[in-house]
Amino acid sequence: MPGLPLILDCDPGVDDAVALLLALAAPEALDVLAITTVAGNVGGGLTSRNACLIRELAGRPEVPVFAGQDRPLVREPVIADHFHGPGGLGDLPAAAPARGPETTPAVDYMIRALRERPAGEVTLALTGPMTNLAEAIRRAPDIVPRIRQVVAMGGARREGGNITASAEYNIHADPHAADIVVRAGLDLVLLGLDVTHQVTATEARRERISRLASPQARAVSQLLAFSARTEARLGTGGAPPLHDPCVVLWLLAPEIFDLRPCHLAIETGSALTLGHTAVEFRTGERHPANARWGVSADSDAAFARIVALLERYG
Ligand code: BDR
Ligand code: CA
Repeated sequence: MPGLPLILDCDPGVDDAVALLLALAAPEALDVLAITTVAGNVGGGLTSRNACLIRELAGRPEVPVFAGQDRPLVREPVIADHFHGPGGLGDLPAAAPARGPETTPAVDYMIRALRERPAGEVTLALTGPMTNLAEAIRRAPDIVPRIRQVVAMGGARREGGNITASAEYNIHADPHAADIVVRAGLDLVLLGLDVTHQVTATEARRERISRLASPQARAVSQLLAFSARTEARLGTGGAPPLHDPCVVLWLLAPEIFDLRPCHLAIETGSALTLGHTAVEFRTGERHPANARWGVSADSDAAFARIVALLERYG
């Protein structure tokens, strides 16, 4: 059976890069139609370059990369290079890729792919700010019912924010885009800090990965070592969370996660709490469910799956 038709929309980004390597390791399960990139952790030129580099590293040159929106819909850009390094890939050597992105902009590609493919076929995995999808919905609202599911890394409820006291980075970086996406009427799965802070690259887990010999696993090892040093330097406490890989894990092994239906709303009006995700579990007439929210993850099962995927590279 062919894999799940999937567009990976990302802003690599150290943990996006790990997520891409995992997704590209399972072609029988995930039919990655394209990687689309967005400005986020670093600028748009760098995120598309990084996606091209990772596709080469994964040995999947046939997967097209489309460069997307280079700034948020409304707010000024907020980058996170203090977490991802100035080029976005930590201290991985980042030469120019052999082949760059396609000439078609990502939003045009998304709209075309969703219109051309049978309705309900294509899943979108979002691991960066939601600018591309929001812009696609704004320009072509007819795509909404054609999308099978949107699975996104973003938001925080039980955990505080990681970029401000109350907001998670992907939502904070483009809250107006997130607002469009959560109000669109999609089948939406949100995996925020409440779950990604449970799936961490502890020292023992990093050591396990460092014993894998493939260039892809070695790159993951180097990326996670960079993140661990960054967390220590910034004093955020503990092992680096594997945020974006959770999206890929959900697609491959949803039993790893517990989700609850919720009414989700995005704060767009307050400078203090911009990008806060207001998650209401008491759904009903007043608060109709518009998303499913990740509340917990089986960390050991998640890590076992990560190792199994990396072992596929040999
Ligand atoms: C998210 O923010 C980015 O810095 C990471 O790549 C991840 O997508 C975590 O808050
Ligand atoms: Ca990301």
